[in-house]
Amino acid sequence: MDINPRIDQAKGLREAMMRNTEIVVFSSGKGGVGKSVVATNFSLELVKMGKKVLLLDADIGLANVEIMLGVVPTYSVIDLIKGERSLEEITLKTEYGLELLSGGNGVAEAVDMTKEMREYILGELSKISFKNDYVVIDTGAGISKNVVDFLQFADRVYVILTMEPTSITDAYTLIKVMKLHSITSRIYLILNRVENVAEGRKILDRLRIAIKRFLDVNIDGCYFIREDKMIPKSIKDQQPLALTKNRSLALLSIDKIVSDLLTGDRGVVSKKGSLPERLLRFLGIIRKG
Ligand SMILES: Nc1ncnc2c1ncn2[C@@H]1O[C@H](COP(=O)(O)OP(=O)(O)O)[C@@H](O)[C@H]1O
Ligand SMILES: [Mg+2]
Repeated sequence: MDINPRIDQAKGLREAMMRNTEIVVFSSGKGGVGKSVVATNFSLELVKMGKKVLLLDADIGLANVEIMLGVVPTYSVIDLIKGERSLEEITLKTEYGLELLSGGNGVAEAVDMTKEMREYILGELSKISFKNDYVVIDTGAGISKNVVDFLQFADRVYVILTMEPTSITDAYTLIKVMKLHSITSRIYLILNRVENVAEGRKILDRLRIAIKRFLDVNIDGCYFIREDKMIPKSIKDQQPLALTKNRSLALLSIDKIVSDLLTGDRGVVSKKGSLPERLLRFLGIIRKG
């Protein structure tokens, strides 16, 4: 495979600097907590607000965003990694205005990405980031190197968890790993599938305090999303809630996250420096931390 991420990045990087593209990552310690469904609806709601959004399904080989969207991409990130297609070619422009980079489907396609491959994807992504207001990344679960690299790249990370004890401890571990890697993205907690709001609030408060006390990490915001039967139905129908007229409880919770993003701390200078700086640091071209 002929991969050279350093070629021809300068132009895109300069433009990314001017547009102030924000990289938003959805992650979780444990799988099956709602990352894909939340990332998909979140992205569609941003598009409705007139934003240009690129959604990367980075759960390579297990991609399910496209299934939720009911679209059939011809190519995926795997074609990019193999060097067979360019990023432009693998970008699916959906009829909803959202652009999608598929992670590919099928066990045979599930690849263990090397550092070189990750550098290549992130490099290519940086080149086109400037065309978007937001690049939203739906990662796989856990704390593999793949996920950590995306987290390192993020302006903001939404850590999704449910009320299940293992999901809570795994979310804590994920944030601990971010701390160990000196990741300074803004971090938000999203407690999903909440049935009892008072109980949900209590869990979020306690978790936030524990994260501050034991890890000395500040959580920039906490959200919860209600348990909602319309979500499994929307997945079955391949019709995301954001595309239907139904105002579901879960979608209302997602709207709150989106409106905070749009009205809240946007415009505050990222703690991490510009996207180009981050890429160069990631590639080891500049060292300053
Ligand atoms: N708020 C919710 N209410 C009801 N079901 C939900 C909710 N969020 C997620 N689910 C269910 O959880 C399952 C896993 O969601 P998914 O987004 O695929 O998780 P992940 O991407 O974290 O593996 C989905 O099939 C969906 O039906
Ligand atoms: Mg998923």
